[in-house]
Amino acid sequence: MRTIIEPFKIKSVEPIRMTTRVEREQKLRAAGFNVFLLKAEDVLIDLLTDSGTAAMSSEQWAAVMRGDESYAGSRSWYRFEQAVHDIFGFQHVLPTHQGRAAERILFSTMCRPGQIVPNNTHFDTTRANVEFTGAEARDLVIPEGLVPSARHPFKGNMDVDRLNTLIADAGRERIPLCMLTVTNNSGGGQPVSMANVRAVSAICREHGIPLYIDACRFAENAYFIKLREDGYGHKTPLEIAREMFSLADGCTMSAKKDGMANIGGLLATNDELLASKERNLLILTEGFPTYGGMAGRDLDAIAVGLHEALDEDYLLYRITSTTYLGEHVSKAGVPIVQPPGGHAIYLDAAAFFPQIPALELRGQALVAELYIEAGIRAVEIGTVMFGRRNSGTGEETPAAMELVRLAIPRRVYTQSHIDYVVEAILEIWQRRSGVSGYRFIEQTPMLRHFTARFEALAESRGSGEAGKRARKEKPSV
Ligand code: F0G
Repeated sequence: MRTIIEPFKIKSVEPIRMTTRVEREQKLRAAGFNVFLLKAEDVLIDLLTDSGTAAMSSEQWAAVMRGDESYAGSRSWYRFEQAVHDIFGFQHVLPTHQGRAAERILFSTMCRPGQIVPNNTHFDTTRANVEFTGAEARDLVIPEGLVPSARHPFKGNMDVDRLNTLIADAGRERIPLCMLTVTNNSGGGQPVSMANVRAVSAICREHGIPLYIDACRFAENAYFIKLREDGYGHKTPLEIAREMFSLADGCTMSAKKDGMANIGGLLATNDELLASKERNLLILTEGFPTYGGMAGRDLDAIAVGLHEALDEDYLLYRITSTTYLGEHVSKAGVPIVQPPGGHAIYLDAAAFFPQIPALELRGQALVAELYIEAGIRAVEIGTVMFGRRNSGTGEETPAAMELVRLAIPRRVYTQSHIDYVVEAILEIWQRRSGVSGYRFIEQTPMLRHFTARFEALAESRGSGEAGKRARKEKPSV
């Protein structure tokens, strides 16, 4: 088979800046070893997120110029609504400035204290918005979904037995809605099968529980179904997406992912009464129902982007390039969440650095090494993000998994960028036994990963890679 190439040529380029290792060490130390606090211009390859970071196509830029900024009833709105109807099929569409605004409106309309919302795995803003209403966010992914090395074609599936048990134990009235996140971002970017969507939908319909899809990466999920599920090989991603949404009652979506846009989101439902309540909230905080939190040009960029995300040549390249990164590092022994996800590769930092104790922040150590080694910015999804700190005793509980996500922005990097990332990971892998951990020196009670500051333990102890670096820079240490 020939090389699968980027199915586009480049019309506009954005320079990225090389830095030296010494510069990167200084920048990272000044940022308290937290890559969220780095300036983007000091990052060479930014894999912090695939959200809002896509390169728009020439058709999208042309659509931006067509943007109609009328306050009410703009042409852009009708084009946006048409695209959403065409793909998602839901009757009522509410535009929002991003995914979490759709979540806030949905959950504050539907959830009450004491209720439970099941999901395969809630994304962190989804969980926070459920919890904000006093309801509980319950993750019901299949057991394989929690084991990084376990291979399963649809590791994002919901455990239907646990869903049935939950409904039987809690009672239908305590479950205002059920959600499925496609693909399962917090669980490794893993897809959900059509059979699973159908099974969850049947259970929900039997009990009269509305099913909502968190549709951020719906096109990638549709393509995985085409590749991996019997009976779907001959269907187009659009046909598969339509079938998936026909099994649900509504969806939330951040258009910053498979909307191929830099900002935007939506909430859709078939429930007219609910839609009218939600529209009132929309007007209160997002804007008039024909623009939500977006400019007309954003609506137009998304209307085009939603269809581009379903293009088969694009999806083949997208899934192949993420898999390429995953397979090249795992072939060399680097532990990753298997199989590679759609939008990201997740390195298993616990298995990468077995010498670092759980509370010495192995994921943070790997994120720091990636930046220092090669100017790559990744994100820790482990104890820094999801560990718990007892506010009384200060005692820390580590997270269940210690992952580092390398999220690939859409249409932004070429194969040589990805080769460079592979090389950097393998270099760190070669010298992994010399790397040591970190500890918090500053943190906030909520969402601490965004602002925390750390200390490199090797520096304070004067050992390991960081200790060597510190001694080189500051001979007196
Ligand atoms: N749902 C999922 C599955 C997500 O991945 C995200 C965002 C959201 C909801 C919220 O959307 O950011 O537009 O408000 N994920 C980004 C990420 C931030 O990096 O994975 P938003």
